[in-house]
Amino acid sequence: MTSPTAIPATASPQVEFISLSHLNPSTELNPVPSRGIDLPYFRKYVRSLEESGYDYTLLPYGSNSADSFVIASAVGQLTERLRPIVALRPNTTIPQVGAQKLATLDQLTEGRAVVHLISGGNDAEQARHGDYLPKDRRYARTSEYIDLLRRSWSETGPFSHEGEFFKFDDFGPGFRPYGHTIPISIGGQSDAAFQVGGAKADIFSFWGEPLADLRAEIDRVNGIAAAAGRTDRPRIWVTFRPIIAKTDDLAWRKAFDYVTKLEKTYSAGGPPARFLTGAPQNVGSQRALDFAQRAEIYDRALWTRTAAATNAAGASTALVGSPETVAAAILDYVDQGASLVSIRGYDTLADAVDYGQHILPLVRQELAHRAATGQRGTLQDAHPGALTPGFDPAALAGLR
Ligand SMILES: Cc1cc2nc3c(=O)[nH]c(=O)nc-3n(C[C@H](O)[C@H](O)[C@H](O)COP(=O)(O)O)c2cc1C
Repeated sequence: MTSPTAIPATASPQVEFISLSHLNPSTELNPVPSRGIDLPYFRKYVRSLEESGYDYTLLPYGSNSADSFVIASAVGQLTERLRPIVALRPNTTIPQVGAQKLATLDQLTEGRAVVHLISGGNDAEQARHGDYLPKDRRYARTSEYIDLLRRSWSETGPFSHEGEFFKFDDFGPGFRPYGHTIPISIGGQSDAAFQVGGAKADIFSFWGEPLADLRAEIDRVNGIAAAAGRTDRPRIWVTFRPIIAKTDDLAWRKAFDYVTKLEKTYSAGGPPARFLTGAPQNVGSQRALDFAQRAEIYDRALWTRTAAATNAAGASTALVGSPETVAAAILDYVDQGASLVSIRGYDTLADAVDYGQHILPLVRQELAHRAATGQRGTLQDAHPGALTPGFDPAALAGLR
């Protein structure tokens, strides 16, 4: 029998924290009709992430969003340590130019650049930029793109290429990154995403899933990596939208209040409703909605009502509880092998600061304890959250 203090064999010994950057104070709880950049807010947001101890910030990309490269460059100049993760759709930038832009960002930030390749989960959204390939072909293009990014960063002389999607002559050597390469992450949950990510990505990313499902997906990524002859394995990134308060009861009260507000926001048609209605085409959102349909709560703190309320249009599943319960829930995912944890609240800036103060230190303290003693600490056992027998969140929140 394994000892209750044994560290699971699948556990990651380290974890780094990501939070998506917001450009203005608009939130899904309280939408402000402005799509622009509020510069003082953005500066404050990014600096708060750095001061709060986050390691990375994701700069998302869509056909009507700000440009993720320009924003990443600003993040680099506003911070000393925080690493910008540029969401990049291969249809928007030829690979040699993508490599050049990323290497420039890497030099400007002295080695902090990361790229998150988005193959595109929605045909209509891709068509807005003139991309008419079906999704499987988009992933095949991403696969060729990854090879060309890496060659552009590493080839010491000129090279030519004739592939299915890209053709050029006599390119190179390209502009070099600051370090020897730049980490490449893959977002997406379709079979094609797994094939490309498992075979080629440095990082494979998920939205928050039940633990058993995530474990199976990690095994799948690792199996594909092994079959591709890799000796390393992609790092696993998992994303949540935590809802925290001083106690579990108060957090559940807040969670029910938030979901009412989210339902109001999304039923009113905004924010950008035209991207969000109807059955989603991307498997990531389909999975999130399926989990929501099967159960409202999974494991210690995973709550799916927020996914149902938002049509799972982006990362939407919550972790609900006190900072201790949510930190313990994050450790459950670390135990499954996640080494990158993205947390972004529904109350964006206030939550980023709160997590930095109350969650990051608890998770890091537990990992430091494990490193020092070779054993698990008590945090997970002491804060069972929804694993408590007879757990009823509505009763806890005073709703029944
Ligand atoms: C952590 C994470 C971040 C993502 N960021 C973006 C983004 O910035 N822009 C976007 O269009 N899709 C984003 N996505 C969604 C998918 O990566 C993308 O649409 C993908 O092609 C979905 O297709 P699939 O799930 O069917 O494979 C993200 C997904 C994950 C897991």
